[in-house]
Amino acid sequence: MKLRHAGLGLLAIVVFGAAGFTAYAWESEIAPVERAASERFEPALVKQGADLAAVGNCVVCHTAPGGKPFAGGLPLPTPFGTIYATNITPDPETGIGRWSEAAFTRSMRVGVDREGRHLYPAFPYDHFTLVSDADNRALYAYLMTREPVVAEPLPNELPFPLNVRLVLAGWKLLFFREGTFEADPAKDDVWNRGAYLAEGLGHCSACHSPRNLLGAEKRGDDHLAGGESEGWTAYALNAASPAPIPWDVDSLTHYLHQGWEARHGIARGPMAPVNANLGTLPEAESRAIATYIVSLMGEPSPERRQRAETLTAEATIHPPGAVVPSAGSQTVPVAHDSADRGAAIYAAACSTCHDAGRPLPYGGLRLDHSTAISGPTPANPINVVLNGIPAPEGERGPIMPGYAGALDDGQIADLLAYMRRTYSDKPPWDDPADLIAEARARGAENGQRSLDTGSAAPANPSKREPTW
Ligand code: HEC
Ligand code: HEC
Ligand code: HEC
Repeated sequence: MKLRHAGLGLLAIVVFGAAGFTAYAWESEIAPVERAASERFEPALVKQGADLAAVGNCVVCHTAPGGKPFAGGLPLPTPFGTIYATNITPDPETGIGRWSEAAFTRSMRVGVDREGRHLYPAFPYDHFTLVSDADNRALYAYLMTREPVVAEPLPNELPFPLNVRLVLAGWKLLFFREGTFEADPAKDDVWNRGAYLAEGLGHCSACHSPRNLLGAEKRGDDHLAGGESEGWTAYALNAASPAPIPWDVDSLTHYLHQGWEARHGIARGPMAPVNANLGTLPEAESRAIATYIVSLMGEPSPERRQRAETLTAEATIHPPGAVVPSAGSQTVPVAHDSADRGAAIYAAACSTCHDAGRPLPYGGLRLDHSTAISGPTPANPINVVLNGIPAPEGERGPIMPGYAGALDDGQIADLLAYMRRTYSDKPPWDDPADLIAEARARGAENGQRSLDTGSAAPANPSKREPTW
């Protein structure tokens, strides 16, 4: 809560600043148009727009749980209050049916609505500003051909003065850089495609970068240095990547496109819909993003590479259908000290699946391969242990039971300490008591994200980044 107050204090300064340039901050209205008939748009353009919308995760934020796609209403909690995603179906009254393409492109480029009001950066226009005119045209064609839904936008729950949109002009002046994407001529087309998608529509750093007190992403060396999203840690994707087995282009392509990777595990929480959406596109798009991200990670140090080689050599991955040894015959070290509750819980509850060598995605990862155990906070293993990993509806998929009922907070803390000590080369985590309590309070909600890699619209898209 301290953070919130500091943020508000600073924001007050911005408010006064904002008052000074009201004239500057004013944006004009773009005249309403008659809603364009669906037939006006070429099917090929609409399809291109569908693919781009998948990269941009538009449906994830703009759909309320159980609501119609793109009709808005999803609450986005921020440290400053709750902002509701709006209705972006072509309904003329409650959606964007009367927006011209120019109005739509302006909203993506500078975060201003058709009537000229500043939009909250919970809408990641600080990234979408990089989207080309041609791609905005395709996105517009896609949205204008969706089913119009009558759904009044919900009023945001923000304290004064944050509820005054003019304040956003101050925020933008400080933190927002309008810009089109500049390709790096020193890099090839695949790298540049990846940079365009990752930094623009894909807005990876909205979750994977740390933010300042005013909710703006930190830049420079902090770019993609790891962030937070809905109670999950979004690991560093730059040279600080904590992955025990360094990512390469092939493994990262597989992870982004399939939602899991043999030596890195499956994507959970707010990352799962990102991968589910990327999985609907040609694999080349995931490969482009992977090429760009791996270049930012750089060459792993010789020590890190050596450790990864040792880990890989130790791991036995059994081919599908092989007879898998039961727990107990494993080489993974398990402390037998009876005083060590964490080791005992692990041996009894976890080892059967995580040390059995069953191939992913159905088997559990060896935890010395897991970024979750080597990450900067225990937030992700806490979420996974409490809520488990539910199988996707109607499909075969990875299953891990949740232990919220079976383990109390102290037992989970012991288990975490044991896993960190045994399966990573990192120093112990800070006391996880608060994180465990918070994760319990969020309840099963966060863990219940389905691994729906087959559809562009996750059935219950309730996760999104806490932007702004
Ligand atoms: C991280 C969540 C998030 C994602 C992802 C997202 N939006 Fe939004 N969007 C919002 C929120 C929240 C608002 C409302 C902002 C406000 O009220 O100031 C918004 C507003 C908009 C608006 C302005 C609508 C209006 O009624 O004023 C448009 C247009 C829009 N989004 C289009 C898109 C498109 C296209 C995509 C995908 C390329 C997308 N959004 C992805 C959260 C998101
Ligand atoms: C809505 C927030 C969000 C967005 C947007 C997002 N991520 Fe993630 N990402 C996460 C979270 C949270 C995790 C941790 C998930 C887990 O533990 O399974 C994660 C995990 C990952 C991992 C696994 C890292 C590791 O070492 O195990 C990679 C790689 C990754 N994201 C890449 C990307 C890329 C590339 C993009 C943009 C195309 C992206 N992410 C966009 C939230 C996000
Ligand atoms: C019925 C089998 C099963 C049991 C029992 C089980 N898990 Fe899992 N676990 C899985 C599967 C499957 C996954 C998803 C694949 C993956 O990412 O490892 C998973 C994922 C995980 C992950 C994320 C690994 C990563 O980075 O991808 C952690 C951490 C984890 N489990 C910890 C535990 C702990 C701790 C216990 C015991 C309290 C436990 N598991 C019990 C099957 C199981």
